[in-house]
Amino acid sequence: MKHVDIDSMVRGEAQYIDDIPMPSNMLHSAVFSSPVARGKLIKLNTEEAEKFPGVRTVFSAKDIPGENQIGSVIHDEPLFCSEETKHVGDPIALVVADTAEIARKAIKLITCEISELPPIFDPREAYAKNLISGSPEIYVMGDPESMWKNCDAVIEGRVEIGGQEHFYFETQSAISVPTDNGGLKIFSSTQSTSHIQSIASRVLGIPMNKIEVDVVRIGGGFGGKEAQAARWASMTALAAFKLKVPVKLVLNRDEDMKMSGKRHAYSCDYKMGLSKEGKILAYEVFHYQNSGAYSDLSLPVLHKGITHSTSAYYVPNIKVTGASCLTNTTSATAFRGFGSPQAAIVIETALLKASEKLGIQKHELQKKNLLSEEDDMVYGSKIQNVLSLECFDEAVKKYDFPKILKDTENWNKTHQTEKKGAAIFPLCFGVSFDATTFMDQASATVHIYTDGSISVSTAAIEMGQGVNTKIREIVAKTLSVNSSRVKIESTNTTRIANTSATAASSGADLNGNAAILACNNILGRLKLFASKQIGCKPEEIEIQNETVYAKEEKTDWDWNRLIIMTYMNKIGLSAHAFYATPEIFADPKTKKGKLYAYYVFGAAISEVTIDCLRGTYDVHSVKIIHDVGKSLAEKIDLGQVEGAVVQGIGWLTSEEIVHSKDGKILTGNLGGYKLPDIYSAPEVITEFYTGSENRFGPFNSKAIGEPPLLYSISAYFAILNAIKAYNPEMSGTIDAPLTPEKVFLLLHDKQK
Ligand code: MTE
Ligand code: MOS
Repeated sequence: MKHVDIDSMVRGEAQYIDDIPMPSNMLHSAVFSSPVARGKLIKLNTEEAEKFPGVRTVFSAKDIPGENQIGSVIHDEPLFCSEETKHVGDPIALVVADTAEIARKAIKLITCEISELPPIFDPREAYAKNLISGSPEIYVMGDPESMWKNCDAVIEGRVEIGGQEHFYFETQSAISVPTDNGGLKIFSSTQSTSHIQSIASRVLGIPMNKIEVDVVRIGGGFGGKEAQAARWASMTALAAFKLKVPVKLVLNRDEDMKMSGKRHAYSCDYKMGLSKEGKILAYEVFHYQNSGAYSDLSLPVLHKGITHSTSAYYVPNIKVTGASCLTNTTSATAFRGFGSPQAAIVIETALLKASEKLGIQKHELQKKNLLSEEDDMVYGSKIQNVLSLECFDEAVKKYDFPKILKDTENWNKTHQTEKKGAAIFPLCFGVSFDATTFMDQASATVHIYTDGSISVSTAAIEMGQGVNTKIREIVAKTLSVNSSRVKIESTNTTRIANTSATAASSGADLNGNAAILACNNILGRLKLFASKQIGCKPEEIEIQNETVYAKEEKTDWDWNRLIIMTYMNKIGLSAHAFYATPEIFADPKTKKGKLYAYYVFGAAISEVTIDCLRGTYDVHSVKIIHDVGKSLAEKIDLGQVEGAVVQGIGWLTSEEIVHSKDGKILTGNLGGYKLPDIYSAPEVITEFYTGSENRFGPFNSKAIGEPPLLYSISAYFAILNAIKAYNPEMSGTIDAPLTPEKVFLLLHDKQK
């Protein structure tokens, strides 16, 4: 099955925001942003920029007709700063000009009087000063306090985990076009059409029905365009609304890396108590989440981390605390995994330390504590259809983990300056929108045209993950027609309203299920009509491979005849359907609920070699058993696993975000920020676990977008193990990412 867009993408014909043909009166824009990390804004001087030839105007906070507010969860984020700037790159003004080049030149003519305030970059310092969003989230299960004394081993430590640049290929972009009713049509590179619509309506002070948002596809999002696309779209909306001409804004890479949010960095304290046999008895963890300047999606991210703080393990007594700490860097936001990868690293680090203390191999400890059926989960539900042990055992057996460990040990005995390491990681990832269960909804509109071709609109955004291909297959399968008959339309607020972001890996689940409902609705009408024509009961009619069967006998009604005759008999060939995930709920007061419709399981084994004289390393392979239920599209799912693993390895190895003392990003381009490339990508071997079913996913499928990112954690621990083979005195807690520089220091620093 080919990705629906593959031909046009390979030819470079697939359109992104910057490719959409526009009228020649379209204007271009560029953003002026704060040069300092924190300060009071005293005066903004735009006169010189406004006089620059080719500049039409400069917009700032004072020009906003509605609210200067784009915050999604907490309303703490202005579109343009007007009183205080909170990070280097915090937007202050928009220059609109004949070309983007002129707009960028004019930005240099803007000056700003700012009275600087002392910035804060450390989340723990922010916490100490009570600079947090909301209040600390505390979750307790069992009674960890009284357990410590019963434990044979208690270990404690700290983990520092860095952020990550999304590095979607298409940078943040939008075009707004005035429409003849005083409204706007917005083309945005966003994961959520309705979010753009509602924020633009708030900023302009006009009703949502005056704003149409359209997305054909986006060049990657990875969470970075779930909330944050709204800012750039709203800026073009403001300019187009005021100037009555189309306005475009496409950030260049440097601007995007400087101004847009990243994955959350975390600083965590943990304490774990175990029996001498290695059973976890109690676990306490504190997540200091670095939320950056604004709240954005930090609280939902924090929450997902909390509900994933036990990862794939059963912990009877637990206390998790999370605080979303406000600091003076770009506002961190959603990123593939949504807080769960950070949480998993913490408990894996604790298990590593516990294995040293107890003298039990880490993989044995891992296996001993894996979740089993009906175990209690954080938030009071019992986990069901658990496959933790099945996937773990299958990975151990299939990839012969005992042999990998033995070979590693032998190699390390005979090699002085090169050491190998291996590690296994078990995955358990909850699918649904966590505590924001209202987001678990979608709708679909299906039209069948008189020639038998089919048009499908849903809320899903195609961002490279293949959701359009999956929905096309779902529709073709449900109607039993050739998939070439099915066209997936752009995601548009006039066709599909009140969309949730395509996020939480649930795009294909939610929108696929809505599409099935819409198709079944039309199928019901088709079958009723056919049964009347043929002379049988509607339940005796089947459509298979574009042919009508009555009482299991082939008839001379094919798809085309059925459709045209249904139309001629004045029966509707369109349907709109709504789907909401059943059973899930969350009660924030009692902290009880079923937050996830289901879980995705798996296990990954990584093997690495490090060069102990240089600190460089090679992640050879990541071997995976992954539970995707019944895959909707195997090639796409394999691609999702491989992409996620490499993206995760980048985050945990070479991708390091560094700021200067005054908060300027020093890794704001590819000269300083090292993405994984084809040379550093490991061989990723994926086998799908075949024994699972999932009644919440279309045709028994399971979500796949985010979970495989966590397999990269096995590579991180494999590197750590290799370092330990060289320098056993190194302690277990170190910082992610494990850049070669850090690995070098760990190899040779006996203090650490
Ligand atoms: N794959 C590609 N190629 N590009 C992306 O931007 N985003 C990831 C994942 N896979 C992404 C991707 C993230 S963060 C999510 S939540 C899911 O895709 C969203 O799509 P889905 O719900 O359809 O899986
Ligand atoms: Mo994905 S981080 O839920 O967009």
